[in-house]
Amino acid sequence: MKISSVAELLQSTPDQMDVELKGWVRTFRANRFIALNDGSTINNIQCVVDFENTDESLLKRITTGAAIHVKGPLVESQGRGQSVEVLVKDIEILGDSDPETYPIQPKKHSFEFLRENAHLRTRTNTFSAVMRLRSSLAFAIHDYFIKNGYYYMHTPIITGSDAEGAGEMFRVTTLDDKNPPLTDGGEVDYSEDFFGKESNLTVSGQLEAETFALSLGKVYTFGPTFRAENSNTSRHLAEFWMIEPEVAFMDLAGNMDLAEDFLKYVLNYVMEHNPDDLDFLEQRQQQEDKTKPQAERNEMTLTEKLRFVIDNQFVRVTYTEAIDILRNSKPNKKKKFNYLIDSWGADLQSEHERFLVEKHFKRPVILFDYPADIKAFYMRLNEDGKTVRAMDILFPGIGEIVGGSQREERLEVLKEKMSALEIPEEELWWYLDLRRFGTAIHSGFGLGFERLVMFVTGMSNIRDVIPYPRTPQNAEF
Ligand code: 4AD
Ligand code: MG
Repeated sequence: MKISSVAELLQSTPDQMDVELKGWVRTFRANRFIALNDGSTINNIQCVVDFENTDESLLKRITTGAAIHVKGPLVESQGRGQSVEVLVKDIEILGDSDPETYPIQPKKHSFEFLRENAHLRTRTNTFSAVMRLRSSLAFAIHDYFIKNGYYYMHTPIITGSDAEGAGEMFRVTTLDDKNPPLTDGGEVDYSEDFFGKESNLTVSGQLEAETFALSLGKVYTFGPTFRAENSNTSRHLAEFWMIEPEVAFMDLAGNMDLAEDFLKYVLNYVMEHNPDDLDFLEQRQQQEDKTKPQAERNEMTLTEKLRFVIDNQFVRVTYTEAIDILRNSKPNKKKKFNYLIDSWGADLQSEHERFLVEKHFKRPVILFDYPADIKAFYMRLNEDGKTVRAMDILFPGIGEIVGGSQREERLEVLKEKMSALEIPEEELWWYLDLRRFGTAIHSGFGLGFERLVMFVTGMSNIRDVIPYPRTPQNAEF
């Protein structure tokens, strides 16, 4: 007989026919009612045990966390809040679970505790909902790009170049760490290393993606990226996933249009396909809000917030306008910001980004035309000679979710920029070649996948939206 999923059974009409299912016991009540979950949906199915005709020793083994196999007719449910239930004719314990030591008890656990038990936390409603949404978002992203004529490119994970020029990379080496070969000058001799040069885990697939944009036209990457920034915040991971489209013949305005359309598409997709998980997470957030002081509560429910982003145009403001707004803002004048904004050229902190989005504009904001000095070397220089065609998209509760730009397509300007930043031309000869042979304007952006998942799920710590977070001092599992 076919094994049905709980999701399927909850959708079907109770016709007294036998069904068969497998899953994990969430709770077992009154020696009679099993709440069974198999991961296919946030909802459990009730399986009713005929305890009078079931061995006591078997009943004892139906414990929270145990894996079981159940057979019996699907009938209309007597209980409230569910349409169907299974009358258990046959039950087999597939895997016992000791109720004394099983960490996931049927009660509320703190997220800190669940992070320490990340291998079991997807047995909870919150984390299974988050991971189903994560999966759905990943699919929606591919769906959007493929429908719109993009090619999915796999850029290398191990690389010799520092795309962002920020120097926050993890080294990849097979040299003997106790006794590495040295150059005459006494430095580690990477020419003897596995790749014959210093190599690192990539911080971004962008530079390679540009090579494909200037041949295939419209491409995107979606893969893991790595940053050794020692920032222990609720929005940073050392290993995170990034989506990076790159498009030939597209300028910065086109880049903004693309990002906005794309984000709205994926948000719409999950609203349509994952209503149960979103409902659950919405209620979770409302419960959590009740325990917080008024000022920290969410002004909108989770789905209101998603709708709000889908239904409203993102505001587009230049960096220069934003600095004016911030300089004259209340928290700046009253010295409430940790970093006060006093002059043009300052890098924006997340407190400033969130002020602009949540307090000033009350909408997603696209900031563009940033000072060249605070942005990466590859961004196109504007006519004013001091700003670049960069854009950051800022979301409520998150701050920066997207970073992108129009790329510098002029060979001479790019070479000057690299030389000013002491980036050796030999290292990026292939990148410069793109500007030598058939150069063209082109643009792209990077969306931090986990920040998107945070936004959609309402989870406030990035460690709770990736299966196994990698952060400073932590690479468990
Ligand atoms: O702004 P970033 O650094 O941009 C780039 O890497 C460009 N090369 C992208 C491009 O134009 N193709 O990173 C892009 C996004 C950020 O906006 C943020 O959402 C996310 O990646 N991000 C992180 N997410 C989690 N942990 C970190 N440490 C992150 N650093 C960046
Ligand atoms: Mg950025």
